[in-house]
Amino acid sequence: MGDYKAQIISGAYADIIVRQGTDAKLELGELLVAEDEEEKVILQVHDLFYGSQVSQQNLERISGFSLEGKEVRFINNEARNYSLAKAKNILRVRKEGARSDKSLPKFFSKLRSVEKEDLSFLSETKNKLLMGDLRSGTKTLDLPVYLDGGKVLSHHVLITGTTGRGKSVLMKNLIWEATGTDYASMLVFDPHDEYYGRKTLGLKDHPSGKARYYTSKNVPSGERTLVLSLKLLRPDHFDFLDLTPPQRQLTYFYYKRYGENWIERLVVGEEDLGAEFNEMTLAVTRRKLKMLLGIDKGETGLVTSGVFSTTSGEGTVKDIVNFLEEGGTIIVDTSTFSGNTELLVASIITSEAFSKYKYYNHKGILDSKPVINIVLEEAPRVIGREALEQGPNVFSSIAREGRKFKVGLSAITQMPSLIPKEVLANMNTKIILGTEMNTERQAIIESASQDLSDDSRAIASLDKGEAIISTNFARFALPVSIPFFDEEKKKEAGQKKENKSYPGLKE
Ligand SMILES: Nc1ncnc2c1ncn2[C@@H]1O[C@H](COP(=O)(O)OP(=O)(O)OP(=O)(O)O)[C@@H](O)[C@H]1O
Ligand SMILES: [Mg+2]
Repeated sequence: MGDYKAQIISGAYADIIVRQGTDAKLELGELLVAEDEEEKVILQVHDLFYGSQVSQQNLERISGFSLEGKEVRFINNEARNYSLAKAKNILRVRKEGARSDKSLPKFFSKLRSVEKEDLSFLSETKNKLLMGDLRSGTKTLDLPVYLDGGKVLSHHVLITGTTGRGKSVLMKNLIWEATGTDYASMLVFDPHDEYYGRKTLGLKDHPSGKARYYTSKNVPSGERTLVLSLKLLRPDHFDFLDLTPPQRQLTYFYYKRYGENWIERLVVGEEDLGAEFNEMTLAVTRRKLKMLLGIDKGETGLVTSGVFSTTSGEGTVKDIVNFLEEGGTIIVDTSTFSGNTELLVASIITSEAFSKYKYYNHKGILDSKPVINIVLEEAPRVIGREALEQGPNVFSSIAREGRKFKVGLSAITQMPSLIPKEVLANMNTKIILGTEMNTERQAIIESASQDLSDDSRAIASLDKGEAIISTNFARFALPVSIPFFDEEKKKEAGQKKENKSYPGLKE
């Protein structure tokens, strides 16, 4: 069969049946090309099965004998027994360009393996954000896949896959790629302290020097202490917290009465609240705030122990947002916080960035600013169905309308099924890593930008570092291999020593 791997023999639009060449060994997800003078049609394998010239009944009979060790005369060769595959059309490429395919390739077309020249347009876009290398089945092609980072990062990214399949490695790649570009800046909340790279290779080694790190413990030299003034807090920062309506009303009551000192008064004050609020409401709200903020009532007033302070940290949030506006990457180490404290810190910083960008939009000067993309692990904590029952929060607002203000989310989760359909539909790029649970696969497939209904099996069998990217910004769901961060970036990081400081950025 020469250079051909398969040939179209029958089928229907999404189920084209091809016979596999003798030595071809087709794989799930493999890309094949049907080509003539004018155009190429790209097909993708989504199922594999056997074919035989011998009738099923005869095969059953012969197998029975053979299993009992009886000698049978049976010619088992490629002419009689062979493999077939089901494939679907994904793209038609002509000289003028590529478009999604709505017709059948020619009957009996011979199919060859895809080559990087067939899809070289995947490397052409503005605002280049490297997503990985094109993959055909398990084979990685030497063809980097780029998407428009300005669009991808403002229209939200969902990164999903079973634990250990490479979500964090992928995210680290994306943060690295976006760092130092003029189209986007990244605001990363890092509950596992894995992106900055205290002990390993990480964003601290980025050649642009444009990544800044905030942590509250053992601050590395040249980096910043994460401390936030209690005065920055507003009741709406607690939107995601499970406060009862009376408890919530109480926070607004204090905020209205005492302004920026409201937390302090709520925790240490002994004012008479009148009949409006009962003692229990006050006691429970106090306890929740004390735990969350790491504060307590001391001999002479408020004592602080965590990331929140009465005396410092007033400029932290402003500094962070200014740096983001300049195109810098911010990594906030939240690994020492409880889950709710992490979300509170994330809410405060994110709210400030979001409202500033809304203001810029209002003033008509948003165009000159980079997109801000906010990276959040275990995203259902804030955009999950259960969290949204508490009402909207800054993250769900961003998921709904952030793209208009150049603010996007990168939501990481193993459990996309916990996120409501409307929210999933707003995440215009989905990076799908290996996912074993069927309910999770269904949730992604139902909300994907392309029809992935035939790809459930392929998604289940994705190996570490293999992904499918379904995005509004590509014509078909892109199979990619994610480079392993440490290996790829070492070379680039080596350059850092030569061009260390970028003027005006890392002082
Ligand atoms: N692209 C890749 N190439 C090679 N190995 C990889 C790749 N991605 C991940 N791995 C391997 O898998 C391990 C787990 O990856 P990672 O921490 O990114 O998974 P995860 O999906 O974030 O898991 P969790 O849900 O537990 O956070 C890595 O430490 C690495 O050894
Ligand atoms: Mg992870």
